Amino acid sequence: MRRIESEETMTDLAIVTTRLRAAGFVAADEEALELLACSNGDATFLDSLLERRLHGEPLAWITGFAMFCGLRIEVVPGVYVPRWQTEPLARRAASRLPPRGLAIDVCTGSGAIATYLMNEHPDSRVVATDLDGIAVACATSNGVEVFEGDLFDPLPSALRGRADVIVGVAPYVPTYSMHLLPRDTFAFETTLSYDGGEDGAEILRRVLAESPRYLRRGGALLLELGGDEAQILRDDFEREGFGDVTSIHDEDGDVRGIEATLIA
Ligand SMILES: C[S@@+](CC[C@H](N)C(=O)[O-])C[C@H]1O[C@@H](n2cnc3c(N)ncnc32)[C@H](O)[C@@H]1O
Repeated sequence: MRRIESEETMTDLAIVTTRLRAAGFVAADEEALELLACSNGDATFLDSLLERRLHGEPLAWITGFAMFCGLRIEVVPGVYVPRWQTEPLARRAASRLPPRGLAIDVCTGSGAIATYLMNEHPDSRVVATDLDGIAVACATSNGVEVFEGDLFDPLPSALRGRADVIVGVAPYVPTYSMHLLPRDTFAFETTLSYDGGEDGAEILRRVLAESPRYLRRGGALLLELGGDEAQILRDDFEREGFGDVTSIHDEDGDVRGIEATLIA
């Protein structure tokens, strides 16, 4: 590819767009613009960025960021890219967080939800956890107070019974459905972000069971889920002392999450 001079930028944009489109990328125009901006006018670098994308690497890993609820979130290779489908859950979580409140974001990944909560409630404390050290480093660089470990295990015990909100996008794909995920997913990502066990709800069930230890009475638990998991978990919510269990829908009317209040 030729060196990019300002008058040649449009040509390079057209070349990158054409190659992405030919490879089947539906948002070729937007992606080409992002790759071009990331290349800083260096044609050789742009070539390498384009090749990475054509091999299926997530765009956010190449450009180093993803937008989430209007915020620019740093994302590094290896870390789950926050999805726009998660935004309604994050907004619901923010609406349940009172002034000077405490929120816990389990399975935080890049820390996208935690960052949004911090942005909406600068006077609140937001803490997060993740099992993956790369995700913990990424969330830390996004300014999140994050602890490395399994679900609630790494949290300071002083937080018990004090959280106003617990929110989580834990892995929830049933193991038997993992092969249905897009072909490129596991060429780059780990199963750690997706595999929710036999019925998909194994980790969700653990979050549900462990949440009451950290929530105050009246506090909210909000979880992303898929398929019929909202139905599968109904009895668990009741058993663990939750009420006001409501579904969170996406634009297509599909259930994408569940919100409940700790009553008992
Ligand atoms: C689907 S990603 C969601 C990331 C982030 N919440 C988001 O929406 O962008 C799930 C995350 O959970 C983490 N994870 C998986 N099992 C975990 C566990 N038992 N405890 C803590 N984190 C876990 C993975 O490392 C991954 O970062």
